[in-house]
Amino acid sequence: MLPVPPSISRPEYMFHDGPEVVTTSDVKSPETVKRIREAGRIAAEALELAGSLVQPGTTTDEIDRAVHRFIVDAGAYPSCLGYMGFPKACCTSINEVICHGIPDDRPLEEGDIVNIDITAYKDGVHGDTCAMFGVGIVDAESALLMERTQTAMMRGIKAVKPGRPFNVIGRVISAYAKRFGYGVVRDYTGHGVGEAFHSGLIVPHYDSAPLYSDLMEEGMVFTIEPMLTLGTVDWDQWDDGWTVSTKDKGRTAQYEHTIVVREDGAEILTLP
Ligand code: MF3
Ligand code: CO
Ligand code: CO
Repeated sequence: MLPVPPSISRPEYMFHDGPEVVTTSDVKSPETVKRIREAGRIAAEALELAGSLVQPGTTTDEIDRAVHRFIVDAGAYPSCLGYMGFPKACCTSINEVICHGIPDDRPLEEGDIVNIDITAYKDGVHGDTCAMFGVGIVDAESALLMERTQTAMMRGIKAVKPGRPFNVIGRVISAYAKRFGYGVVRDYTGHGVGEAFHSGLIVPHYDSAPLYSDLMEEGMVFTIEPMLTLGTVDWDQWDDGWTVSTKDKGRTAQYEHTIVVREDGAEILTLP
């Protein structure tokens, strides 16, 4: 693990083994939302920087080092680093990798598509965001998958309103994905985020009704992070214990924002 200066405060899970133990409401005060917006801004700016480095020949380790330095220089902690033993500052998931890819020394190749997922922890809260980047010229099928996955995320975000059940988010996302015959990953979901990296609140991206019928409330903070696939949504985990790949090796894409529920809809908290 790359070093983090001792002056930067660590999230709770860095002080013990196993899953994080944080019990806070998913409804946040305006002051807490302000802090999440600041952590989210750092994550979003690190993501922009990471995307600017994507080109044939760059390794995901090089991207990880730049992300690590940027977050630490902003006075924040890269939340992935040490989370349940994850060894790097961000996740980099290439082509058939759905999520949780570990940066390594493989150079990016022309035509690859890569997801970079970054979370920053600052002043006691996390902000979590991810996006796709094409390496050089990408085939049309992959380019459309990326574009439509971003649109699916934005449609999910626009479906957020106080008083609506959580399952409307996945209904909207999966209805859009279905138009194109894409798969919607079920086993990885959006989540409550704030003092906790993953609060325990689950936000499915598939049509889960009548389950997940709890109502969204003003002030709630959570992520929307759909993973869409060209083929199957069945997955395998690599023996590194992290990397999640489609079973059929079909390509997959993901976008993510952290949002807060406002009176009139969602406000995105992970913007540069
Ligand atoms: N950022 C991911 C998410 O969206 C979680 C990554 S956890 C890690 O929920 F340990 F793999 F980094
Ligand atoms: Co993320
Ligand atoms: Co997330």
